[in-house]
Amino acid sequence: MIEFLPLFPCPVIKIDTKPEFNNIRNDLISFCYSERENTPTGITRSNKGGWHSDILLEEEKFHKYKEFIEKYVTKSLEPYVNPDVKIVPFSYWINISGENARNNEHNHPGSDISGCIWIKSSESSGSFRFTNPNDFTHNPLLKTFNHQTKSKFYFSERYFFKPIEGEMILFPSVMNHCVFENNDDNDRISIAFNLKIYEN
Ligand SMILES: [Fe+2]
Repeated sequence: MIEFLPLFPCPVIKIDTKPEFNNIRNDLISFCYSERENTPTGITRSNKGGWHSDILLEEEKFHKYKEFIEKYVTKSLEPYVNPDVKIVPFSYWINISGENARNNEHNHPGSDISGCIWIKSSESSGSFRFTNPNDFTHNPLLKTFNHQTKSKFYFSERYFFKPIEGEMILFPSVMNHCVFENNDDNDRISIAFNLKIYEN
């Protein structure tokens, strides 16, 4: 017997928050633009050409959106973690990426799990890409495996997500990722966040 064991995978969780997302989509988009109007310069992190808000957390006007995100984060992680695990979000921020704006490859030091929910996007908004953490050390192998093996075990150098409105992903904060240029003249908007995990 021959067994292929894809040991030590990276846990990435994808969540569709629709149809509930559809009820808040337009309000959430207006909220993001009003935040940009209030602080048009924003801050610079991985963003190249886009607007990155300051950290949102305790602002009253963000509470209902924060509750929405946290509900789906909890619901998505609960089936996979021990019952006494506590998930504590500690930062949220908005990204508004106009045409040609992108995010360089980066990760989120100091955080356990990071996430992103797409608020506004289209087919041409530019993909979100993870780099395999073993890209360097396993590179000859990654290149050698056939297409079937790569797709069955996600055994590739990169993995791409299309930004789809209402979809959210959660991932280990150490995973390198970037977002490609927005090729649409409509903005791509997302809210990203960092979480800490505690176990009693
Ligand atoms: Fe990021």
